[in-house]
Amino acid sequence: TLFYALALIGGYLLGSIPFGYISAKAAGIDIRTVGSGNIGATNVLRTGRKDLAAITFIGDTGKGALAVGLAFVLLLKADIQTRQTAMALAGAAAFLGHLFPMWLKFKGGKGVATFFGTLFAACWPMGLIAAALWLLTAFIFRISSLGALVAAALVVPLAFLLHMAPYPFLGMALFMAVLIYIRHHENIRRLLKGEEPKIGKKKKA
Ligand code: G3P
Repeated sequence: TLFYALALIGGYLLGSIPFGYISAKAAGIDIRTVGSGNIGATNVLRTGRKDLAAITFIGDTGKGALAVGLAFVLLLKADIQTRQTAMALAGAAAFLGHLFPMWLKFKGGKGVATFFGTLFAACWPMGLIAAALWLLTAFIFRISSLGALVAAALVVPLAFLLHMAPYPFLGMALFMAVLIYIRHHENIRRLLKGEEPKIGKKKKA
């Protein structure tokens, strides 16, 4: 229907706003030349600017949450199936917008913050599990990508087993989790070699 198309287009446009790229640019930094070259909060943190990293994280999380939230509000009067499907489509589209923003020649980020934002807005317990898994892993190992990979691997099976989320949201989360793995192939290679940089430490020259 029209609403699904709107959810996809609106979600994509919101998701394609690259907060990391914009905030670094405003500070005179081309984030693509720093660290991993990624436009996400983890890499913005490598510039040493915690404020910019925070803006990036909040912006990239918020745009995902906003996309899902808008679909919710606009379809408040629709039946629950339609509403949840539109929310899931908006979230997935926002995630795709972050990964493939047309403003950056479709070279976007890895989607972790946007994943968290959409999960929180669609089904907050699922978002909470994902965030907890990320925090726990990142706290123990001090590696951002590992936290993301653990969260992405476990949140869908856990939410499914605990009957935490309806199928549209599980589908949305699964779709994003798979793409997070594909997007992290370089991180996975570095992790296996023990070369992935730790949070808060300067990368070896
Ligand atoms: O959010 C992306 C994170 O998991 C890894 O980022 O810059 O270390 O590749 P980065």
